[in-house]
Parts: sequence; C-alpha cells; structure tokens
Amino acid sequence: MLLQRHRQIQLDAVVQVGDLGAYPSPGRWDDSSRQFGAGHPAQSDFFRLLDRAPRVAESIQRALEEVPPVLFLSGNHEDHDWLAWLHETSGAAVTPVDPLSAYHHVACGHVADVGGLRTAFLGMIESPGVMDFDADAYDALMAAEPGSIDVLVTHEGPHGMSNDRHGKAQGSAKLSRLIERLQPPVHIGGHYHHENGPRSYGRTASYALGQLVEPKVSRWDPVRDNPQQQVMRGSVGLLDTATLDFEFVHDDWLADVSGDELDLAGLLTGDSPRPTTP
Ligand SMILES: [Fe+2]
Repeated sequence: MLLQRHRQIQLDAVVQVGDLGAYPSPGRWDDSSRQFGAGHPAQSDFFRLLDRAPRVAESIQRALEEVPPVLFLSGNHEDHDWLAWLHETSGAAVTPVDPLSAYHHVACGHVADVGGLRTAFLGMIESPGVMDFDADAYDALMAAEPGSIDVLVTHEGPHGMSNDRHGKAQGSAKLSRLIERLQPPVHIGGHYHHENGPRSYGRTASYALGQLVEPKVSRWDPVRDNPQQQVMRGSVGLLDTATLDFEFVHDDWLADVSGDELDLAGLLTGDSPRPTTP
C-alpha cells in the first residue's frame, strides 16, 4: 500500500516468500519462534490477522481496496500441518488463511498465473535431518517443460549464494538443479535474511530478499540490531511484469514503518508510524 502510494504505481500482485509466521496461535510456534518471539514483536503480527479486532479488521478491509491479497508460500517457520489442513478443507492449491482473506497460502509445487506470468511456487528448505522440499512438488516442477516458467518463487536459495558466519556455503543444491533445469528468467527467494543478487544461473537471474523486520537484538550480528523494529531496506522487491526487471526497494520511507505494534489505521491515513514500547 505505501509502496503503491510512494511510487505512484498499482501492484498486479503481492507475493511473500515464506516465514510469514503462519501459525494459528503462539502455542503452535516451533522452538525457534518461541525462543526469539519475545525479542521480535513483528513475529506476532500474523495473529492480529486472525483475532478479528474491529479496528484491525476495518484497516485490513480498507487496505484490500487498494492492494491485491498477499500470496505466500511456506518457509521453515510456519505450521505446515495447519496449512495442509486448510488446503484439504478448501480443496484448493491457493487458500485463504485468515477471516478476511488478506493472505492466501500457495501449495508447494503449484504453478499459477500471477500478474500474467507463469509462476511456480516451491516452499520450505533443504536442510538434511530437519526439513526438505515436498518430494512430489519438487519432482513435479523438475518434470515441467524447461522454459515454461517465467518466475520461480521459493523460500530457499540456490547453493553457494552466500556463506554463513562459519564460512560454510548456504543454499540448496536441489534448488540449484531445479533452476538449471527450468531456467526461469527470474528466481526470487528469501530465508537467509539478507539481500542477495542478482546472480546469474544460465538464463536465470536469481534474487534473495532480506528479512522484513530484523529482531530487536540480532542473534549473531550487532550491526543488524533493530531496536525500533523498522522495516528493512532490501526486504521488499518490485518486479516489472512487462520487462521482468527486478529492483530491491531501498526507499527511506521503509524505516518509517516501525514500532512494536503496527498501526495499520495510522499508516492508511498517513499518521505517524507505530509506537515503540520501552
Ligand atoms: Fe527461513
């Protein structure tokens, strides 16, 4: 919404690349979410979508008059069982997850027309012994015709895209093989919390988005501490659906979206950003 207003554009679609924190309640958080949730207020924002508070609901409805509903795929921090149940109940590969249908989860392996582009979605990560891509979804995408996909959206990144703090290569070899096979003009992922790319893999330009709101105190890097809970530069990207040009958004106004509890109504009316508790 603010992106549209500041850039004077109309978005055809909004896609979130996973780790939305899509749990039906904090009691379902995984260990990592539970451990770091207290120092990371934005991690609880998803529950405000579910709780039907009138002021929040009114603001969401008003926002939906301006922007399309958000499509998102699974990261490694979602309630995968709950999301699978929502898909089973709706019988659809794209299913709303909140009462106002502001957010729609896209099943792994699904290919959809998004803004006129053939867009393939592959959620989760390759982490041996912890988590892996859905095998059927991965195989289905590997069997797709090379060149048939315009945009590949994942949570993971390709192998070697960056190194962790111990110097170990990050990313998934399986995803690298999928990119090499499909050769989509654009690949966009997330997961590694920093802006990354473009990197070229044959015909594919690959990008990774940064974390939307870094925690108040970073686990590993004090430079990334975010006491004001500001939205980070490089956490949002713009894809031109006509040219397939991709841009990381670095606008100054991103930092104005800040504070422990997002005041969506205030943002809609242009009032000051959300307050921060001491
Ligand atoms: Fe992740």
